[in-house]
Amino acid sequence: MANRVALVTGGNGGIGTEICKQLAAAGYKVITTCVDQEKEKIAEWQAARKAEGFDIAWVQCNVADFDSCAAMAKKVEAEHGPVDVLVNCAGITRDAFLHKMEKSAWDAVINVNLNSAFNVTRQFIDGMRNRGFGRIVNISSVNGQRGQFGQTNYSASKAGIHGFTMALAQESARKGITVNTVCPGYIATDMTAAIPEEVRNSIVAQIPAGRMGQPSDIARVVVFLVADESDYINGAAIPVNGALFTSF
Ligand code: CAA
Ligand code: NAP
Repeated sequence: MANRVALVTGGNGGIGTEICKQLAAAGYKVITTCVDQEKEKIAEWQAARKAEGFDIAWVQCNVADFDSCAAMAKKVEAEHGPVDVLVNCAGITRDAFLHKMEKSAWDAVINVNLNSAFNVTRQFIDGMRNRGFGRIVNISSVNGQRGQFGQTNYSASKAGIHGFTMALAQESARKGITVNTVCPGYIATDMTAAIPEEVRNSIVAQIPAGRMGQPSDIARVVVFLVADESDYINGAAIPVNGALFTSF
């Protein structure tokens, strides 16, 4: 995979960091996005990865903003070459019951979690089609599959991500491109640490595995899906949730 370039949005988050590391370990040239280089201390993040033996590049980008994504794509391809692998991982929560939800919380989640799939993927799909190769993985959620108290915005965005995946997989299958969704259950990151403790404990109690998952549980599936050999797995939604939600 030495020549394949992989872009991971939100690659400096909890799940994204592990995806970057496992892709780099598998031989991909990996680039993460970061929203704000000052605020996120991305240079420190990069140095920490370097100390672990992973050489990962970064580029500034707000995935909710189409023009920011266009500028990011231009910079990435000029500096690193064509992007073969795209992992749409950036995401946020703004939890509230619908009857208490501000429009700003609805808009923020739809923009960052769902509109981002268009904003980012649109920049790279032509190149993938022209080259006859591409791997796209969209990070959805168990809560997009089954809904969740307080997450009408988030559940809608994550269900939407899989609709996007299925349609794009059909459009792209004859062009050597696969598009798949990974649906994590509750994974130990800052995102789940923000759930009120009492609520989090009651959620963990409902997970048949008896614990939250780890970011590495998600990253291993991403690496599997983007492999050249995984070319017949297309339009799928892969659950990684400790049996919290099972379907056929
Ligand atoms: N199951 C059953 N009942 C629930 C519930 C649940 N999951 N969540 C809330 N309720 C009930 C409460 O028990 C409470 O009932 P009573 O009125 O009878 O006491 C009622 O709903 C109101 O709950 P709150 O007092 O907590 O109301 P709130 O307005 O302060 O907050 C909430 C509501 C925003 C939903 C809050 O409970 C919350 O943050 N829940 C966690 C939501 C969640 O799981 N988010 C996941 C974030 S991580 C993520 O999204 C990653 C991923 O993809 C998995
Ligand atoms: P996290 O640690 O909070 O990471 C989220 C990442 O998204 C961060 O790098 C964040 O950057 C980035 N991001 C947020 N807004 C952005 C924007 N506008 N433009 C570009 N990047 C942006 O959360 P996580 O748990 O790793 O979640 C990663 C993905 O997995 C999300 O899509 C999430 O919905 C999904 N997921 C998580 C779980 C879970 O249990 N943790 C379960 C299912 C699905 P900043 O650091 O600047 O905020």
